Amino acid sequence: MGKNEDFGRSFKAAVEKNFNQSAQVYDLFEEKHHLFESLARRQLELIAPYRPDRILDVGCGTGISTFALQKHLAAHSPNIYAIDISESMLLKAKERCKDLHGVYFIRGDAENLKAYFHETFDAIFYTASIFLLPKFADSLRQASQLLVPSGVLAISYYEGLFAESGEDAVRIAFPDMKYQYGAVPMTDLQSCLVSLRELKTVQVDYRFEVSRDFLFDFLSIPAQSAGLYPKMPYLDRIPKIREFCATLTEKVSRVFMGWKFLICKKG
Ligand SMILES: C[S@@+](CC[C@H](N)C(=O)[O-])C[C@H]1O[C@@H](n2cnc3c(N)ncnc32)[C@H](O)[C@@H]1O
Repeated sequence: MGKNEDFGRSFKAAVEKNFNQSAQVYDLFEEKHHLFESLARRQLELIAPYRPDRILDVGCGTGISTFALQKHLAAHSPNIYAIDISESMLLKAKERCKDLHGVYFIRGDAENLKAYFHETFDAIFYTASIFLLPKFADSLRQASQLLVPSGVLAISYYEGLFAESGEDAVRIAFPDMKYQYGAVPMTDLQSCLVSLRELKTVQVDYRFEVSRDFLFDFLSIPAQSAGLYPKMPYLDRIPKIREFCATLTEKVSRVFMGWKFLICKKG
């Protein structure tokens, strides 16, 4: 097994374990801050007036994105298929969406979409999940094949935390710390999309100011804190995260969270 293959496997196993621990804290964060719903809603706004009937939600987590997509497209009665690798996240997703029609959950690996889906989709959403897939290029190639002509791929990508100047806030506050959330640098994702010649991609930045409270709640999600302090048990990470947020907001007067949307049309 090659070094990259090895890294991919252990990264994926860690992601699954981290998200299995995250379901409850993830939903508490969302109840308070509504971040993930607003990302899914923004993705829908960016593909408007296109109104897909058959949708795939890749890395659906606790179903926040799935619920938001269904709710905003309810007039069209869409069919939404939602896939996730984490059993605990999916349990919550099934509970959240239990009263919705036309929503189907599948436990599976987003890097191998073709193993689960044979029919095509009008739209495929990666809602805050692409950066967790070491083999994101395989996933995107398969997603593109699963799209109907003129179908749409909508991706939200977490870029990190920034100062007002646009500089990386973590680098300013902690010059010696190496922090990249996830396995996928933006430049690799962009090159991959360029190589999929059937897709035409538009990028949109989404940055908003965050409070210390927001940061603490976000970084306390086990899967997030594991990115900062990978080798430490979860409960030991909490005081470190509190300290991290205090230093960050002390050294950087206004902190912004950065996301990028990549909206790709086929054909
Ligand atoms: C940050 S959450 C986003 C959840 C949801 N889309 C939302 O907007 O709330 C990322 C999700 O991607 C899932 N994920 C990570 N790697 C995966 C893989 N290889 N296959 C399927 N799901 C994966 C995680 O289990 C997690 O639930």
